[in-house]
Amino acid sequence: MKNNLNQYVYSPYSNHDDEWCLVIGESGKAYPGVRIENIAFPLTITSMQGAICSCLGNGDSPKSYYIDTENEELQTYWIDQYTLSRLHQLPESATLYDPFMAEPGKPDDMLRSLIEKAVIPHSEFPVSALLYTEKGVIPGVNIEVNSWALGLCAERVALFRAVAAGAKSFRHLKVYAPKGDFSSPCGSCRQVLTEWMPDKNVELHHGDDTISTHKIMHLLPYAFSSKKLIK
Ligand code: THU
Repeated sequence: MKNNLNQYVYSPYSNHDDEWCLVIGESGKAYPGVRIENIAFPLTITSMQGAICSCLGNGDSPKSYYIDTENEELQTYWIDQYTLSRLHQLPESATLYDPFMAEPGKPDDMLRSLIEKAVIPHSEFPVSALLYTEKGVIPGVNIEVNSWALGLCAERVALFRAVAAGAKSFRHLKVYAPKGDFSSPCGSCRQVLTEWMPDKNVELHHGDDTISTHKIMHLLPYAFSSKKLIK
């Protein structure tokens, strides 16, 4: 199975530019994972975390993985939680998960139907997201795993899938939180989105069926930055 995942790793702050993986689901699909760092280091998404959240958010269950990196950060958690078996060669028979959808004629309906895919055993608070990129529209839902800190919000699942699929240009984002009051991306998502699409808009679909639109940089005034951190 050919892939160019190493090109999609985003590691401007470290030397972990070989950290990509494939997580193979029960369906036989291979979910790509790449390390996506953030200037606020604790918000970095590791390749296994993202690939497993992508798999779970597609209604699939992770079964095995292929990884070839020196960086073993957090791998053990995922391997133990899902009793994943390690593949020592690329899975030739698996088909690569393709997250791109045709632009939905009715995005509101798409956001509503996506909600069913949220994996929310702890909160029962579903969120869906659609990220518009130059290569198509990418869905995301929130994923909760046993360790609360290692799940991902819907916005970050969509962004992760987009980066791991080679999208480079993000046009706008729609987010739907049917059980929210005034639902708005959490602080961590604001930080991550600011790194990728500061001058783009996020359209928030609130629980009372109202919509508001905000420029992402306006959601995170005085954002953390330092050129000294870039390698
Ligand atoms: N959540 C999101 O998906 N996006 C946000 O911007 C806020 C919070 C999810 C995370 C978790 O699964 C649930 O909502 C409760 O925090």
